[in-house]
Amino acid sequence: MIKSNKTAEDAAPLDASAPDAEEIIIEQTLRPQTLLEYVGQEAVKNNLNIVLTAAKQRGEALEHLLFYGPPGLGKTTLAFIIAREMGSNIKVTSGPAIEKAGDLASLLTNLSEGDVLFIDEIHRLNKAVEEILYPAMEDHVLDIILGKGPGARSIRMELPKFTLIGATTRIGLLSSPLRDRFGATYRLEYYEPKELQKIIFRSGKILGANIQADAAEELSTRSRFTPRIANRLLKRVRDFAQVHSHDTINQEVAKKALELLEVDGMGLDKNDRRILETLIHKFRGGPVGLNTLAAATGEEEDTITDIHEPFLIRLGFLAKTPKGRVATETAYKHLGLTPPPSTEQKTLL
Ligand SMILES: Nc1ncnc2c1ncn2[C@@H]1O[C@H](COP(=O)(O)OP(=O)(O)OP(=O)(O)O)[C@@H](O)[C@H]1O
Ligand SMILES: [Mg+2]
Repeated sequence: MIKSNKTAEDAAPLDASAPDAEEIIIEQTLRPQTLLEYVGQEAVKNNLNIVLTAAKQRGEALEHLLFYGPPGLGKTTLAFIIAREMGSNIKVTSGPAIEKAGDLASLLTNLSEGDVLFIDEIHRLNKAVEEILYPAMEDHVLDIILGKGPGARSIRMELPKFTLIGATTRIGLLSSPLRDRFGATYRLEYYEPKELQKIIFRSGKILGANIQADAAEELSTRSRFTPRIANRLLKRVRDFAQVHSHDTINQEVAKKALELLEVDGMGLDKNDRRILETLIHKFRGGPVGLNTLAAATGEEEDTITDIHEPFLIRLGFLAKTPKGRVATETAYKHLGLTPPPSTEQKTLL
């Protein structure tokens, strides 16, 4: 989860990072429970099916798995589904929550055979903790150092055969020894509008919202290719419909609600637009370095790299060049601006 220096009021409705308390409850009710219910990510599901079936047939714990991809694409959901499919318990923690080697040691010694340990934001584990994790993952042992200095002794404890599932939005920040100890690594992809429509219909049913096909389509094209956002928008649209006494949510209702949320036709929120506008107006479309862009927009660098940038790149509004970030011709046009003649050349640098 990405820390933000923004106040709750500023917080963009479309920010796919850490959900707030109310949303956590909603996420839990909307979270698919089985692989069959889990929409999209076909390649990942097919691979997982094989790994799961093979482990079950052998009666062994599943190998360690790593999921990565932008926030809100379903990494945590998959970890829960896997534990459920294996009939295992899942213990959930996160990189920053494990501060000391001892914290991890106590987590590991409390696991039972076949349990799943889910470590979210695994790229934020510190070095001392990581080193405990290596032998635990590889040989299912825990090396504890007792005492300090020349008198220190190391004792080795056997651990139950557990499965570590790691999730990260920043695979590049994972050390290679840690990455190498996962049996399989899966990258989650952005969702297609058709897949998001399925998710929106499913969530609509669970939330008791009567959503029409044209409204689901409208929402799906504005959801930043992300299920968490699709669900968040659906919820806001449902609130809007309720307040305005609409029994069904059609395209018109959805559009009005989305306008109020300042979500534009391509799903850009005001922060996305601010980033592009800063790039265009203050830096003549770039190229500009990440830290300069972050300072000029008042966003954290992580928020830009994890949330805004992948989405804007996917839309073709932003390009990353060796010299920095560049706004593309399409971005100018989307914002109703005329691109200067040199724009396309910049993206080819
Ligand atoms: N494939 C899917 N099918 C249906 N719903 C999904 C799917 N993936 C995610 N969702 C919905 O989106 C919500 C967010 O997903 P999840 O919490 O698993 O994302 P995440 O990748 O772990 O995000 P983060 O990086 O922020 O931890 C879930 O609660 C679920 O309701
Ligand atoms: Mg998660």
